[in-house]
Amino acid sequence: MSSIAPDPEPVHAPIWGHDLTLPIGLGTNVFGRTIDEPTAYRILDAFLDAGGTLIDTADTYSDGAAETVLGKWMRDRGTRDQVVIATKMGNHPRFEGLSAAAVSGAIEESLRRLGTDHVDLYFAHYEDPQTSVDESAAAFDALVHAGKIGAVGLSNFSANTVQDWIGAAQAGGHVAPVALQPHYSLAHREPFETDFVPIATAEQLAVLPYRALGGGFLSGKYRTEASTEGRARGAGVLPMLNPAGQGLLDTLEAIAVSQDARPATVALAWLMQQPTVTAPLVSATSTDQLDELLAAPSVVLSQDEQAQLAALPAP
Ligand SMILES: NC(=O)c1ccc[n+]([C@@H]2O[C@H](COP(=O)([O-])OP(=O)(O)OC[C@H]3O[C@@H](n4cnc5c(N)ncnc54)[C@H](OP(=O)(O)O)[C@@H]3O)[C@@H](O)[C@H]2O)c1
Repeated sequence: MSSIAPDPEPVHAPIWGHDLTLPIGLGTNVFGRTIDEPTAYRILDAFLDAGGTLIDTADTYSDGAAETVLGKWMRDRGTRDQVVIATKMGNHPRFEGLSAAAVSGAIEESLRRLGTDHVDLYFAHYEDPQTSVDESAAAFDALVHAGKIGAVGLSNFSANTVQDWIGAAQAGGHVAPVALQPHYSLAHREPFETDFVPIATAEQLAVLPYRALGGGFLSGKYRTEASTEGRARGAGVLPMLNPAGQGLLDTLEAIAVSQDARPATVALAWLMQQPTVTAPLVSATSTDQLDELLAAPSVVLSQDEQAQLAALPAP
């Protein structure tokens, strides 16, 4: 008797009702900063062609130009309904913090720049110690009920404040957050692994780690101080040029050779295979770079390879 094998379970949980066929989010902090509009269009087109849907932006990226370019691309290409848009508020000079006034003002500007009537996921970008989480949770809840945002996310919060916000949402009958956006990669493991894995698991939060390539460090292209000179991200990777960083790159490169892949692809594959990670956020400044990132879902690391990488200290 023959039997038909069932379809494999999806590796990653759907996020707030959006099934991600490609569990990678495209970051846009390079739009208007290190890449011009035609390059941004080529990268967005290639991402969409590859099945990508999740795009992450913020009201502060390039003073709003990232949202504007993304909005223009969605209008020119007619793609608004094909993508899941996450944006963030909280440190724009005109809408600083997470007060009710800042939240209700910032969303209008983001919607105008994006040329849409709603964003799918709205992140509080940073904690605001001056505003109670009750006020912020109520302000985000009001946007959900107004149809201006689909869901609420928290970025760069401490685990305690995430828990406080969830408690305030429960107590006030407000929509609870569904997603976290923490800094997490092989180049930056803590505090995510200690503080956020437990809360993401317990509260069933989607996790969208940012700077998933360590700002480009995990591609292996920065090995010496000289290699950082004249590079837009050079200064940011300098602190990783230490023995732990070199050890990490050596292991990534060895695994990349055995997987017939690139180190950036392996680093992203490792992150995607972490059980709490929903979709890492990455940016690219060329379609060649993007191709290496889009290959990550097809690289399946063995348990031994995963353990080798996990055992290395972050640089
Ligand atoms: N919530 C937050 O506070 C926060 C903070 C930071 C970022 N983010 C979000 O997360 C996204 C990703 O973070 P990120 O852009 O800062 O860092 P990242 O994804 O770790 O690094 C991306 C950079 O690495 C380089 N790169 C990409 N692919 C490469 C490849 N295959 N080979 C060699 N170099 C490659 C490119 O820069 P070069 O070509 O210039 O080297 C690219 O811009 C952002 O776009 C943003 O949406 C959120």
